[in-house]
Amino acid sequence: MTDPAANASIDHVLIEDRLFPPPAEFTADAIIRSEQQYQDMYQRAKDDPEAFWREEANEHLHWFEPFGDVLQWDAPHAKWFVGGKTNASYNCLDAHVAAGRGDRTAIIWEGEPGDTRTLTYRQLLSEVCKAAAALKELGVQQGDVVSIYMPMTPELAITMLACARIGAIHSVIFAGFSAESIADRNNDASAKLMVTSDGLHRRGKVLELKKTVDEALAKSPTVQKCLVLRRTGQDDVPMTEGRDVWWHDIVDGQSDDLPAEPLDSETTLFILYTSGSTGKPKGIRHTTAGYNLWAKRTFQWVFDHHEDDIYWCTADCGWITGHSYIVYGPLAAGATCLMYEGAPNYPAEDRFWELVEKYQVTILYTAPTAIRAFIKWGDQHVDKHDLSSLRLLGSVGEGINPEAWMWYHRKIGNEKCPIVDTWWQTETGGIMMSPLPGITATKPGSCTRPLPGVVPVIVDEAGNDVDAEHGGMLLMGQPWPGMLRGIWGDEDRFVDQYWSAVPGKYLTGDNARKDGDGYYWIMGRIDDVINVSGHRLSTIEVESALVSHDAVCEAAVVGRPDDLKGQAIAAFVTVADVEPNEELRNELRQHVRKQIGALAQPDDIRFTATLPKTRSGKIMRRLLRDVASGREVVGDTSTLEDLSALAKLREED
Ligand code: WTA
Repeated sequence: MTDPAANASIDHVLIEDRLFPPPAEFTADAIIRSEQQYQDMYQRAKDDPEAFWREEANEHLHWFEPFGDVLQWDAPHAKWFVGGKTNASYNCLDAHVAAGRGDRTAIIWEGEPGDTRTLTYRQLLSEVCKAAAALKELGVQQGDVVSIYMPMTPELAITMLACARIGAIHSVIFAGFSAESIADRNNDASAKLMVTSDGLHRRGKVLELKKTVDEALAKSPTVQKCLVLRRTGQDDVPMTEGRDVWWHDIVDGQSDDLPAEPLDSETTLFILYTSGSTGKPKGIRHTTAGYNLWAKRTFQWVFDHHEDDIYWCTADCGWITGHSYIVYGPLAAGATCLMYEGAPNYPAEDRFWELVEKYQVTILYTAPTAIRAFIKWGDQHVDKHDLSSLRLLGSVGEGINPEAWMWYHRKIGNEKCPIVDTWWQTETGGIMMSPLPGITATKPGSCTRPLPGVVPVIVDEAGNDVDAEHGGMLLMGQPWPGMLRGIWGDEDRFVDQYWSAVPGKYLTGDNARKDGDGYYWIMGRIDDVINVSGHRLSTIEVESALVSHDAVCEAAVVGRPDDLKGQAIAAFVTVADVEPNEELRNELRQHVRKQIGALAQPDDIRFTATLPKTRSGKIMRRLLRDVASGREVVGDTSTLEDLSALAKLREED
């Protein structure tokens, strides 16, 4: 190793000692309401995972045929609930109807133009049966891959569940990706069928999805048929004879009784492409029983789900959050879910709060990128609405800066709603670390503690355990039911990327630190660490210090080469209601210095109108690194949401 600091742990500079215990009224009625209850579950899952998960699986999934071994672990290959037969669509639908809960509302849906629809579990089941029968008629068989490129309509969830019902594998592609990205995913997965819609409503405009799909299909030789939902209703939708079929022509007339196929526990339920932040997208593979159980139980634990809750996850089904916490988790738990099609700022910046009030939402799960946008748009949009129905708030997708956390707590939660900052990944299938809202005193910016079954390990780059209060690479020491089973068609990459840092342990790709109370703090991606004069710093801590200044909305911090210090700190900052000038720049430098020390003081601060983000809202630090160091921007930008943000940053060079 040439770098003397390469084996060192990561320095921790941000001090956050605010503590928010759960409100007593919340705890009184919570599902997990005592520390002892958590400790017992956690210890049982750690010490005797087979007994713990045997009980969980028997109690919380329907089995057509019982499983034998709970786990066969031949690292890095896991088989859970071996030999059992179940079906995720059965667990999400039939199970409720069979238990007399068929008339409960499953989905309350609102389209962007304001049209609405409500589906009970019984109705959802019958729609799923019809769609499954149509898929079969179109030649889809067990094991075939179905690509889904659709707006956030009930039919998107219906199509996912229809695939699950017959053992087809869905691959949902976020309906903002280009034709090229769709074709890449179709080809990588050898998709046989595509499901899409004529168009998509976005901020009052219609995006013509079918035209994009046609372009993709011209380069997707494996796709034989395309099923098209009429959503936006424009006239000139191109339909290719013999290949394209309207949803209403083939689905509506099907029988609504199609029994769920008993599927082996390890049957692939779906693949979901994730780009990471570099390289070719990889199809993360999840399987039926373990994933469904993990999504269901983590949903129940973390969101403290009660029968009368109205739960709203604002994600899109194109991401893992939508898979696990709009579809498979909440539906398996019998929850009533709000599903919204459109943008948060259409027709106005108060759309989310209008929806919370209108549907009396009790649990809201959203992302830091959205929270920071709400802060920027101003409190007046929130103040117009009565948000008193809310009792629990969640965050996912990125670290939440403590100041954004505080705004969420005060402004949206009225200081009475616990916040669950949930850390997890596409690969983990469901939430891994999060407060349990009835018992965990929260600290802004910390995802707090692991859920039962999760055994985090923090090591330095040489693989040695790191002491409390120091940061290092975050790994998972034990397999868990929701873990990925592979990368579609790329076994080598699966082993290299996730299992080779410490053999037998899962490498998350994130850095983290555990504090003296046993709470975890995610410190960003491993590649994002900045090494200033031999001190290794996490980007999120410097960003949080910047965001704690009143003028700053968002900040992204990266390292750039520096002759003297090894790396210098470059910060990209968006501000609200102030003139971005030299004076502010100096003030921000001083502010960071005061908050976390001279070492972390940015060398460059650049003001920008927007930051380049992935389509799921994560800041693309990789691109910013290139911009900061004056390099040509390299690598895959297909997941970049706003290329103009990048172009602007480069203009400012
Ligand atoms: C980041 C999203 C800090 C992290 C479910 C992770 C977070 C990556 C948090 C996975 C959080 C997600 N705090 N960082 N609460 N949640 N991340 O696959 O870097 O889209 O590795 O899954 O997002 O992103 P993915």
